[in-house]
Amino acid sequence: MRKSKLSPSLLSADFGNLEAEISQLDPTLADYLHLDVMDGRFVPNITIGPFIVKAIKKLTNIPLDVHLMIVEPEKYLKDFIDAGADILTVHVEASTHLQRNLQVIRQLGAKAGVSLNPATPLSSIENVLPDLDLILLMTVNPGFGGQKFIPKMMDKIRDCRKLIGNFPIDLEVDGGVKFDNIADLEKAGANVFVSGSGIFERPPYNQTMKEMKAKLSGA
Ligand code: DX5
Ligand code: ZN
Repeated sequence: MRKSKLSPSLLSADFGNLEAEISQLDPTLADYLHLDVMDGRFVPNITIGPFIVKAIKKLTNIPLDVHLMIVEPEKYLKDFIDAGADILTVHVEASTHLQRNLQVIRQLGAKAGVSLNPATPLSSIENVLPDLDLILLMTVNPGFGGQKFIPKMMDKIRDCRKLIGNFPIDLEVDGGVKFDNIADLEKAGANVFVSGSGIFERPPYNQTMKEMKAKLSGA
């Protein structure tokens, strides 16, 4: 049985009280901490850079799952890994040389992830499966928390799990993941679940994560 993991997205937390927010997360429930990096170009929103990732790294032992929603990610791979990213994910749509980006991430000592927007076909990653530790399927259009899960993405998750076959690759879903759809997402083949508003707008966080995990057969 493949292990299912939760990755709470800090995007929906109170940024005026990050230390207090992060310290509330029980590391036995939060397998990763998902950090959304947005540049105002790849996506309309702007969030955090390596400087804040480094500050967050000092606050927690939970592995950092860093999702880069930026153009020209190759310019910043080293900065984010030096700042403490344990998993570093680039978007296929932003990577002119995707295989090289993935190789560099691994060489720098982090796990290599690729993310696909909802409209991007899975064929865009079939040639880089040996270079991947994680595939992050966006189940909303990236840029904001609190959006609705796009139902057609259920088929994409199933197809992606088939594509992964025997490769040791985690399948992460991000966007509109909540207590009430998490079990269906696992059944479709996902095993890492990002949830922002689903956790941070539903305190107490550990109780919510416990309830989510109770719905997952692999957790
Ligand atoms: C959106 C981000 C997500 C975001 C998800 O572009 O990639 O990680 O925090 O938020 P929810 O879980 O609220 O849909
Ligand atoms: Zn994300």
